[in-house]
Amino acid sequence: MISNYFSDTTKVMKSSLIRELVAATKNVPGLISFAGGFPSPATFPKETLSRLYSEVVVEDGRDVLQYGASEGDGMLKDELLKWEGYSQLNHDNLMTAVGATNAIYYMGRALINPGDVIFCEAPTFLGTLVVFDALQADVQSIPMDSEGIDLNALSAKVKQLRAMGKNLKFVYTIPDFQNPAGISMSLARRRELLNYCKAQNLLILEDNPYSRLRLSGEPLPTLFNIALNEMNDVSLVTEIVSFSKILGPGMRVAYAKGDKELIHKMVSWQQKVTVSPDCVTQRVAARFFAGGYMEPHIKWICEFYKPYLEKMLNCLSEEMPKTVSWTKPSGGIFLWVWLPEEVNADSLFYQAKDHLVTFIPGSKFYPEGQEKYNCLRLNFTYSTLEQIETGIKRLGGLLKTIKA
Ligand SMILES: Cc1ncc(COP(=O)(O)O)c(C=O)c1O
Repeated sequence: MISNYFSDTTKVMKSSLIRELVAATKNVPGLISFAGGFPSPATFPKETLSRLYSEVVVEDGRDVLQYGASEGDGMLKDELLKWEGYSQLNHDNLMTAVGATNAIYYMGRALINPGDVIFCEAPTFLGTLVVFDALQADVQSIPMDSEGIDLNALSAKVKQLRAMGKNLKFVYTIPDFQNPAGISMSLARRRELLNYCKAQNLLILEDNPYSRLRLSGEPLPTLFNIALNEMNDVSLVTEIVSFSKILGPGMRVAYAKGDKELIHKMVSWQQKVTVSPDCVTQRVAARFFAGGYMEPHIKWICEFYKPYLEKMLNCLSEEMPKTVSWTKPSGGIFLWVWLPEEVNADSLFYQAKDHLVTFIPGSKFYPEGQEKYNCLRLNFTYSTLEQIETGIKRLGGLLKTIKA
């Protein structure tokens, strides 16, 4: 049996829970899904990309069809530095990667020994939990309130684990339009978290796929921005930005920025695992910036998504029983629903499937053993407005029968 040859980590590796759930609801006729983390295909800039791909292969083919630099395409880095406007940074503070997931893996690879502690928000992005799990980290989830991660709870956990002699490494946070909760960290909380982590010698991994998808309100500075501009510290925060929800997740373009020494080690891992990110795609992304397409495109996506978020929030208000509450994000692609304590969304998932509506049960977004069950995640960017209306009606109707 081939499985006898598997490594210990492979033997205990779980298959993707979300993929299993999505598979369980595949090919159900008439099913409305709020489950996936998909951007709307209508937001993919297909015409511009198709022209740029062609131009890049024709004009830069000798260069970009060759093996490329492990740290990423120089032209793309130039454009990223211009876009973000940090005069203090240069190419060595940046690496590009095959999606944020790879960059997160390389940061974990560079920093984590088995048993090292990483703090995350409760709930948090499952894809990252899986990565930390593969690295055998001890992941501790910290509750959030409406302003983000609860610093009293974090501080109590830090004390407790230090007293146990644990090695604490970093806080993993998604400050803007968090996946899955849709919560954004307030400016005050951002500063408090930075000061706390600095005082406690904890690093921060800031995962930022959504901050540019702000549908209303004023943008907040990233943790990286505050650390660099207010605290003059380039090492405290490593920020990872993904273009999955801006250009399309199939392109697999993301970048990480932070301390040169850490970036260098992450690049070494990328060199071993990937050799380099896709050179053609990176150059296309560079030309997307250079041609001035990025800012108008982001603006357009935000306008495009506004009615979808509004629709979902309105439908929830109209259809949900009084015992249900939900977050009201100003951007991103998800919101989070709290059910009455006694309702288990893992079981609700199967009942909902019979009512032709689906979501991801909230328990999947917590480290093992730290789950909450009376919650679920809804995506508002993949369904049509009509599907949102019908789907939320179905879910509300089902929840009303459960509470009756
Ligand atoms: C918080 C968060 N981090 C990372 C990712 C993965 O991004 P990528 O497609 O760049 O790997 C996602 C995608 O849903 C996400 O929500």
